[in-house]
Amino acid sequence: MGSGESMMELRRSALDEFAHLPPSDRKPFTGVRIELADFPSPVGYSGEVPQTLVRAIADLLVKDRNRSGPGAALVSGLLEHFELEEARSFHEELFRVVWEEFRRRVLPAGTTEDFRIKTGVISDGTIPIELYGSKWSFKRFHADRDALLFSHLYGPVAGFTGGELHLIDIHPYMSLGSLHFDDVFEWSDEPTDGRKPVLRPHHSESALTMCGTKMGALGPDEIVFVNNLPNAGVLHGVTPVIVTDPDIFQREYHRCSVKDLRLC
Ligand SMILES: [Fe+2]
Repeated sequence: MGSGESMMELRRSALDEFAHLPPSDRKPFTGVRIELADFPSPVGYSGEVPQTLVRAIADLLVKDRNRSGPGAALVSGLLEHFELEEARSFHEELFRVVWEEFRRRVLPAGTTEDFRIKTGVISDGTIPIELYGSKWSFKRFHADRDALLFSHLYGPVAGFTGGELHLIDIHPYMSLGSLHFDDVFEWSDEPTDGRKPVLRPHHSESALTMCGTKMGALGPDEIVFVNNLPNAGVLHGVTPVIVTDPDIFQREYHRCSVKDLRLC
């Protein structure tokens, strides 16, 4: 079995289970925002990210039977300290230490070598259509197939409207409705080997209203982290990007993600 099939099976079975699990009574995505200014000086990072910041982000991300973080974290206040390139370096450094804390909490049986971190910049509107079937990054509500945890830092962004990030906690939605995987999801149809669970369109509005949040159009001041573990049930989607000024249009985001090599 290749990684695609095994991750798809894992995602199907984890999401399917929500029909039988009790919903939690917390409000999805409450308290998801963190201000850098509330932590010891984040200026001049060189391998020293405050542990209090790392723990605060992990507390929000982790969501299992013992903890109740919302499954995402939005860290704001980067522009106070960083130009774009520095912000991207900080982002990578922060991702690595948050991932170690996250792994220690939810995947303690794995070792560092079992996982691979990938980083890179994606330019929306210029993604090769022959590779991905679209020149835009994926927009309907979905979970990425392989990533266990990912984070995005948007910027430069200019010359468009829309592109707002929305998140849904699908666990309570499926629990309350006793809904199974096939009731709620379909698989993305992509030319590459990357089929993802995608929310069926007629559930989008009701799930977003009941168990979602609108994070807004993110920019270079903030980093969003998303717990993308199969059993987290956190979906992400983006509203359509409408180019308003082609001369200055730019929509880049710097992405960090991690996958499990044992599923390759
Ligand atoms: Fe995605």
